[in-house]
Amino acid sequence: MREIVDEHLDAVAGESRPVDLVRTWAQPVPAQVICELLGVPYANRARFQGHALDLFRLDRTPEQAAAAYSAVHEFVRDLVAAKRVAPADDLLSGLTASDLTDEELVNIGFVLLGAGLDTTANMLALGAFTLLTHPGAADVLRAEPGWAIEELLRYHSVIPFTVRAALADVELDGERIAAGECVTVCLPEANRDPARFPDPDVLDLLRPSAGHVAFGHGVHQCLGQQLARVELQVALPALVTRFPSLRLAVPAADVTMRAGSLVRGVDELLVTWED
Ligand code: HEM
Repeated sequence: MREIVDEHLDAVAGESRPVDLVRTWAQPVPAQVICELLGVPYANRARFQGHALDLFRLDRTPEQAAAAYSAVHEFVRDLVAAKRVAPADDLLSGLTASDLTDEELVNIGFVLLGAGLDTTANMLALGAFTLLTHPGAADVLRAEPGWAIEELLRYHSVIPFTVRAALADVELDGERIAAGECVTVCLPEANRDPARFPDPDVLDLLRPSAGHVAFGHGVHQCLGQQLARVELQVALPALVTRFPSLRLAVPAADVTMRAGSLVRGVDELLVTWED
């Protein structure tokens, strides 16, 4: 992961300033990590990244959304077929040795590729934005990356909600939920619950944020959360260490949260620095 991060920081250093950190660093780093893990051949990675980033966009017609879904599915189906013929040292190849069917393998690959990219990319971008707009935050991150990352996850909560279905009639906070009904759980709201996190709107990188629900909760909580944590703990400190004078190239107020996607984040983060 360090090698992947350093390689992209080299590419950032070589660009003419201002540089968009989303395009040059926040998106390609998790894309490459997930591709290495699953065993996506190097030549196909750009195609995969384009399709996968399209998956969660909301600013499209249902037909365009279905086309994005099909494109990633087809991509993974080809990948599974290739691993069956020529297994290598990667997760999908390892799974082909199990008794999973092709359909199951394609679905597993699809979920892993889809779930691990836009989420981590947006946490990297929002994490960088936060470090650049909170004086002293970069020093705390370098000293206590574990604590700082948990607080960034709590504070930003990039997945807005998760859904659960009641298996039996249940009463929750005075509200009756009948068996079979669905409940939408608002994760950012839970992560800003003052009963759990005092002054919840304040970013405090040293606060004990354990127990936040940015990765969901229970048996279906995020399968990739440890991978995501390591990515954030490697990539964010590396960024601020490599470019100590890194700063936004535009006023912070001009960095707007993107509207057309399920995953919260920013589409562009223009930065500059002194040599
Ligand atoms: C900062 C990055 C990430 C965030 C904020 C995030 C967040 C989430 C959330 C909120 C859920 C729903 C959990 C629930 O319903 O309780 C989820 C599920 C999931 N995530 Fe992540 N995720 C991240 C990165 C990843 C990565 C890197 C991977 C895989 C490589 C991944 C794979 C999955 C999978 C497979 C599920 C479905 C789990 C299940 O339904 O049993 N995620 N994630």
